[in-house]
Amino acid sequence: MKKYSVVICGGGSTYTPDMMELLCMMQKDFPLKKVVLFDNDEERQKIVGEYGRIMFQEYYPELEYSYTLDKEEAFQDIDFAFVQIRAGGMDQRNNDEKVPYRYNCIGQETCGPGGLAYGVRSVVQMIDMIKDIRTYSKDAWIINYSNPAAIVAEATKRLFPHDKKLVNICDMPTSVLDAYLPLIHVKRSQIYPKFFGLNHFGWFTGLYDKKSGHDYLPELLAYVKEHYDEVHEQFTAKIKGKDDHWGITFLHHLEMLHDFPYALPNTYNLYYLYPDKCLKHYDIRHTRYDEVIQGRETMVFAYCKEIAALGKMKGTKYDISAKINPDYKVDNPQAASTVYADNDVHAAYLVELVLSIINNANEIGLVMVKNDGICPNLDAGMMLEVACRIGKEEIVPLHYGPVPQFEKGLLENQYACEKLLVDAILDKDDFKLLQAFTENRIVRDADLAKQLIADFKEVNGDFWPQFQ
Ligand code: G6P
Ligand code: MN
Repeated sequence: MKKYSVVICGGGSTYTPDMMELLCMMQKDFPLKKVVLFDNDEERQKIVGEYGRIMFQEYYPELEYSYTLDKEEAFQDIDFAFVQIRAGGMDQRNNDEKVPYRYNCIGQETCGPGGLAYGVRSVVQMIDMIKDIRTYSKDAWIINYSNPAAIVAEATKRLFPHDKKLVNICDMPTSVLDAYLPLIHVKRSQIYPKFFGLNHFGWFTGLYDKKSGHDYLPELLAYVKEHYDEVHEQFTAKIKGKDDHWGITFLHHLEMLHDFPYALPNTYNLYYLYPDKCLKHYDIRHTRYDEVIQGRETMVFAYCKEIAALGKMKGTKYDISAKINPDYKVDNPQAASTVYADNDVHAAYLVELVLSIINNANEIGLVMVKNDGICPNLDAGMMLEVACRIGKEEIVPLHYGPVPQFEKGLLENQYACEKLLVDAILDKDDFKLLQAFTENRIVRDADLAKQLIADFKEVNGDFWPQFQ
């Protein structure tokens, strides 16, 4: 079996340790020759990198492993680039979330004005990174998780229109399925979905049984309607003791399902449909940024550092051999999600996609692709997130059909905003930047848009390109 070489861009990301751990556990099914971490933040990457060094040494000794700041070393002879960068780092996430709150406007890292500011930084860095990867590995699959993925996808479509191995993905729709399907005792591996939208703004409109073609969605919606209080209680119990943000989000998601009970929406639709409610998600002084810094960042880095200090995992409480689920088999496309109990969904969904690619399994996955008749009544060229067949050489979208009026209006508005933002970035056009911010459903007001742009320019410093 071929052995693959992988680079993880954003080596210092808090998602990287889980990703490496999963790669380690899946060595039979996704055999690796080389893993390289790449980042521009030496300090963060060293913490994660040292953890990787110890883990691979013990559990994957034949693997070539390194971490580097050097592009050539990172991107040479790569089969897969997993990209999860955060342009501007967590400091700028803090600004994306908090600046809009000054004006009673949602601060969120991907939706609304926070996401637009992040988009400005991210598009610039992503384009450079893809060019660099392509310089050294023309044929590698580039699988991107970096946000704001809708905006990044619009930009990459324009700059790399013929690149069939460049894919933008997101875990959220799949996470929504994993939250709801257990209610009706259906496994995700049993179904294939019908889904449409922009990234972080989409709807499931069908959940079909792979064998019989039966649609489980009406059943699921009826279940939620009939057992609403019970489901609410279940969700509340599940999130007890966990980070507030995602708990609140899933409870609000359930309420959204109550108000619009005909499709299963993305959690992020909340920001567009209930901006006032979302504004109250947080206290301006304690946003998701603060939760992540005090929670995941602290925990993951402490974990990495403890293992580095011990110099080993085997025979310690960090031994991962015991974590592998003995029933795990790659006999279904969702196998990567069942390797061990508490694995991170980002890593698992990514590996699911990779398995479909390397095995040419043509499984159905949700990815962002250009609207080329998929939804005939939406803008041609819109970067739709839809169900696609994932094969070895390319990704082929399934036809969706026309979308309903309500969703069409919402999506066209948001797409206009995203398109204008990408125009603004590529043409360095500050008038388009103002149009993009004004067009956004959460901003709405041109005076507010001007104010937000001025504030973001200031806090972003060198990350903000010169607009003319
Ligand atoms: C979901 C979204 C991602 C986003 C992440 C943020 O997974 O799909 O696009 O980056 O949430 O999660 P965090 O825990 O960092 O707030
Ligand atoms: Mn996402």
